[in-house]
Amino acid sequence: MFSKQTHTIKVGTSTLHYSVIPWDSTYLSNTTVEIEDYSATSKADLVKLMARLELSLHLKKGDLLFSKIPLKDFRKIRLLDESGFYCMEQTITLDINLSMWDPDRFGFPMDESYQFIPALPSDKKAICRIARTTFTADRFHMDPLIPKAGADFRFEMWIENSFRSKDSVYKFADKKGKIISFFIYRAHKDHAEFRLAGLDPEYIGKGLGKMLYHHMYRELKKQSYTKVLSVISLNNLPVLNVYMYLGCAKFFDPLITLHKVITSQPEHTSTPS
Ligand SMILES: CC(C)(COP(=O)(O)OP(=O)(O)OC[C@H]1O[C@@H](n2cnc3c(N)ncnc32)[C@H](O)[C@@H]1OP(=O)(O)O)[C@@H](O)C(=O)NCCC(=O)NCCS
Repeated sequence: MFSKQTHTIKVGTSTLHYSVIPWDSTYLSNTTVEIEDYSATSKADLVKLMARLELSLHLKKGDLLFSKIPLKDFRKIRLLDESGFYCMEQTITLDINLSMWDPDRFGFPMDESYQFIPALPSDKKAICRIARTTFTADRFHMDPLIPKAGADFRFEMWIENSFRSKDSVYKFADKKGKIISFFIYRAHKDHAEFRLAGLDPEYIGKGLGKMLYHHMYRELKKQSYTKVLSVISLNNLPVLNVYMYLGCAKFFDPLITLHKVITSQPEHTSTPS
């Protein structure tokens, strides 16, 4: 499986830590680099670090640099902005307290109309199709400089990889057995982590998203989980409203994600001093 590794570059007294993200690079057909941290405090120093990075990784048109910065580090955000990065999304982490959550408060019918059960390997194709078509509010789809086909493929491959990993993949099917949605979570020692969920776009906006998440909460509560963590984008209003509806959640850890897609072929002719 893929793994990422932190590297450091130095220009003068300034340092920058970065890692190449192998899965995004493969699925987006580019080189995707996360700027994990940097010590520069002036635009001039940060620009020099970025130039050195572009040079040493041979970055080219279409490659993506991104950085996730805590909202309180506004100086870092401003410096990245001044150096050609732009804000793509703000994320928050939801901490859902399932011990306080009462599944019977919502009045969803627990009849035979819909099934919410673990997915089988034979369900992968249908789930991949949903994942390829349903995501629109994430930073990859919202960035006009990233081709949509790559962003779609990234989510399709997320499903492929989930079936091969220890993550739990659930399907949500109608009474004829048609898969209309999926839900993926990862089990941790003291909590469940929501990884990815999505409805077939044909079924969006009919209240089924609320039912899907209700099923997932109920299932995890049945498995004796008391805590769920989920990172969500504030661009994604439908999912925020689903969480608001189900309640028992607190928000923390706000981060700003900034992007910079290389738009012209860098000259790579001189090493910055
Ligand atoms: C997230 C998702 C499962 C929610 O399903 P849904 O069918 O949209 O949700 P519901 O219809 O059950 O409810 C969504 C709520 O958000 C509201 N909503 C929908 N779009 C909205 C928008 N653009 N702005 C504000 N509110 C919105 C709806 O009105 C509804 O609230 P209401 O019932 O009080 O009116 C679905 O939108 C989806 O699959 N999205 C793509 C994948 C995704 O983003 N997954 C989540 C992150 S992994």
